[in-house]
Amino acid sequence: MRLFDTHSHYHDPKFDEDRAGSLDRARTAGVELILTLGDTLAASRAAIALARAHRGVMAAAGIHPCNARCWDGEVEAELERLLADPDVVVLGEIGLDYYWDKAPDFIAIQHEAFRAQLRMARRLGFAVSIHARDSNDDVLAILAEEHAEEIGGVLHCFNGSYEQARRGLDLGFHIGVGGTSTFPKAGDLRDVIRKVGVEHLVVETDAPYLAPQAMRGKRNEPAFVAETARALAATLGLAPEELAEKTFENGLRALKIPARALQS
Ligand code: NI
Repeated sequence: MRLFDTHSHYHDPKFDEDRAGSLDRARTAGVELILTLGDTLAASRAAIALARAHRGVMAAAGIHPCNARCWDGEVEAELERLLADPDVVVLGEIGLDYYWDKAPDFIAIQHEAFRAQLRMARRLGFAVSIHARDSNDDVLAILAEEHAEEIGGVLHCFNGSYEQARRGLDLGFHIGVGGTSTFPKAGDLRDVIRKVGVEHLVVETDAPYLAPQAMRGKRNEPAFVAETARALAATLGLAPEELAEKTFENGLRALKIPARALQS
C-alpha cells in the first residue's frame, strides 16, 4: 500500500524535535510521498530545504491568504525565484480566508495575491493547492475567471456543498480529504465525498493541524493520513489498498508531480 499526503506543513517547527521519527512512522504507515507547503516566503524556503534533505518529501511555495498583507512586486518576484528550485513541484498554499479577518481592504489584497499567484501558476505550468475558508463561492468564481482549467490542482480540506465541489471538478480540480472528514459531525461532508467519487479525491493531513478523529487533539503528522484513508475507504465502501492506490495516482495527476520528484 502506498499513500501520498498531498497537503502538510511538515517543515513546521512543531516537527523539529522528532522529524526523523515522524518520517519513520510515515514510511511504516505506507506514506511514500509528502508535499510540504509554504504559507510565507520564509516557510516556503524551509519547505524547500526539507524537500532537498529527505527522499519522498516535495515542496510547494506560495503566500497563504492570511499572510496576503505582505503581497507586493518584490514578494511576487521572490516567489517566482523560489518556484525555479527543482524541489518545488506545486504553487501553494494560496486562496481566500474570510474567517479570521473580513476587513474590506484585506479581502481586496487577498484577491490580488490569489489572482497574481494563479496567473503565475498558469504561466509557469504549476498546479495549485487551494485554501478556502468561508469563501468557497469567491474562490470558485476567481478560479473560473483565471482559467484555472488550464492550471489544475486540489481544493485542499474541502468543506463545501456538492454543487461547489462540482464547480471545482468542472475546472479539473480534485477534492482534498483530510482529518475533518473523520469527525462524527461531518456527515454532510461524507455525503459530498460519496457523490464526488474516488476518481476525483486525494488524501491529506494538513499536519500539524486537524488530526483525524482517532488522534483528535494531538499534533497531526503525515503518518496519520493512513487513518484518514482508512476512514475514507469505509465511507466509499472500498478496500483500503484500492483507495490508497487510487488516491496516490490521483495526487500525482492532480498536482502535476514531475517524474524527477519520484526519484529523489
Ligand atoms: Ni495548510
